[in-house]
Amino acid sequence: MKSKKIRWGILGCGRIAHKFASDLRTVDSAVLQAVASKDENRANTFSETYNATTCYDNYQALVSNPEIDVIYIATPHTFHFEHTLLCLKHKKAVLCEKPMGISIAQVQQMIHLAEQNEVFLMEALWTAFLPHYQFVKELIVSKKYGEILEIKADFGINVAFDTENRLYNKELGGGSLLDIGIYPIFLALDLLGVPKEISAKATIGKTVIDEDCEVELKHNNKVASKLFSSIKKKTTTEAIIKLERAEIVINGRFHEPSSVTVTEGNKYETFNFPVETFGYNFEIEHVNKMLQQGNKESDIMPLSKSLELIATLDTIRKRINLEY
Ligand SMILES: NC(=O)c1ccc[n+]([C@@H]2O[C@H](COP(=O)([O-])OP(=O)(O)OC[C@H]3O[C@@H](n4cnc5c(N)ncnc54)[C@H](OP(=O)(O)O)[C@@H]3O)[C@@H](O)[C@H]2O)c1
Repeated sequence: MKSKKIRWGILGCGRIAHKFASDLRTVDSAVLQAVASKDENRANTFSETYNATTCYDNYQALVSNPEIDVIYIATPHTFHFEHTLLCLKHKKAVLCEKPMGISIAQVQQMIHLAEQNEVFLMEALWTAFLPHYQFVKELIVSKKYGEILEIKADFGINVAFDTENRLYNKELGGGSLLDIGIYPIFLALDLLGVPKEISAKATIGKTVIDEDCEVELKHNNKVASKLFSSIKKKTTTEAIIKLERAEIVINGRFHEPSSVTVTEGNKYETFNFPVETFGYNFEIEHVNKMLQQGNKESDIMPLSKSLELIATLDTIRKRINLEY
């Protein structure tokens, strides 16, 4: 597939699909081949807006199109399992929105099918591919400032209570943890690895989902992460990484294109990473490269990381008695 343009399909034409399709237009190695929505009008409008070659009013037609290399799954959490399996069965590579599934059992089955059918699969944890985050990761891996002592990260938004909103809808995997709490958790796991101890508490709302969730991960005797998410309270959404010889702050909102401030003693410097898109082009470029190289998984967001992430989310859900 080398140097050939990667032909993308988009499954589900909701809010995030719009941003993704907008950024896909900026990627030279990508073409939007087809989109599918259960709603014919939505499919038509979306297709016209982003110049898709074809559009469908059902997902089956999308996965059956032989001219598609990879499908981006942009449906709510509880559909990721079903829609990913549908694509993988048709041997389509998949970029699946986060969280990859709502339980480890789902994610294991998705990975099993991808391996069995020798098809690429990746969770769309787009932060991992953003320039500011790669800068932070390089600083940490280089040990320039020593070891990490503590991570604090939050992600809070204030969304009015509305049973129609997927964030408050248990059937759609609602709550703060799986939707936005996943970013602070990902950050801690990506920088510190699998924790030894997990404790959590949450405010469970009227629709029996976590309206906010406070998590502490202990990575060893000395190192902990304190992580918070909320759909009821707006927060700075920053990440503070304390190291032996410096403090790195990923300024709010840390999970999307942002800046980084490094403080060492009484000196500090802010590094900017201007991005002209929403920032989804970086993960798209990465997937294209993986597919052009014939890789079956990402070397930045491998399937083992998705398993670690969902295992941690499952344990947190146990601690806060939240079942889907
Ligand atoms: N990476 C990011 O920055 C980011 C940001 C926001 C969301 N997300 C992730 O993207 C996913 C979708 O979020 P969103 O905010 O875009 O969702 P959304 O706008 O509510 O819905 C997305 C699409 O899913 C389908 N859908 C929605 N509700 C459904 C229902 N009740 N039953 C069946 N299908 C339904 C619809 O597809 P049709 O068009 O076919 O009808 C809809 O257009 C979530 O898993 C979320 O975690 C990621």
